[in-house]
Amino acid sequence: MSAVVVYESMFGSTQAVAEAVGRGLAKHLSTEVLEVGHAPLPGPGVDLLVVGGPTHAFSMSRPQTRTDAHKDSPDGRVISNGPGVREWIDSLPKQRGARAAVFDTKVLKPLTGSAAKAEGKALTAHGYDVLAHKSFGVSGKTGPLSDGELARAEAWGEQLAAQIVRH
Ligand SMILES: Cc1cc2nc3c(=O)[nH]c(=O)nc-3n(C[C@H](O)[C@H](O)[C@H](O)COP(=O)(O)O)c2cc1C
Repeated sequence: MSAVVVYESMFGSTQAVAEAVGRGLAKHLSTEVLEVGHAPLPGPGVDLLVVGGPTHAFSMSRPQTRTDAHKDSPDGRVISNGPGVREWIDSLPKQRGARAAVFDTKVLKPLTGSAAKAEGKALTAHGYDVLAHKSFGVSGKTGPLSDGELARAEAWGEQLAAQIVRH
């Protein structure tokens, strides 16, 4: 059985979480972790699609927030410099009951919104059965991740994979 993790990341926090989720998934499933600009549409053999991105302006990134992130980057570079998970999800063909999970990184404070919530909504609209949402905290816009988040991400990945293998 297999899983694919597709992530968008500007400064590296979401990428690090995606890799940790992938390590957890790989304990039970054959797993690929792909940056959204290099992610093909998932094939019929994929048992779990996991999508993650940074929370920008309370939701998934948009072209304008990605331009703003470029300006915030200390070296003027970002990891995902093309379309983000919003556009990638939009390009997916409609499914019936394919399984997915979603995550984001964000400032863990009230009223800061959640890309994961928006990813889940978009995948549900494409016919996916969204099994789980999870947010991981950063201590500032450009990072770093809050303490313990990589361990939490790996444990979440393992738990998701176990759920897929069971059912
Ligand atoms: C343009 C922009 C808008 C942001 N808006 C929000 C927001 O509404 N809520 C929030 O919690 N974090 C917000 N953030 C912080 C991001 O969530 C943070 O940069 C991200 O988690 C870092 O992940 P990355 O290194 O993978 O890009 C914003 C960051 C940028 C660059």
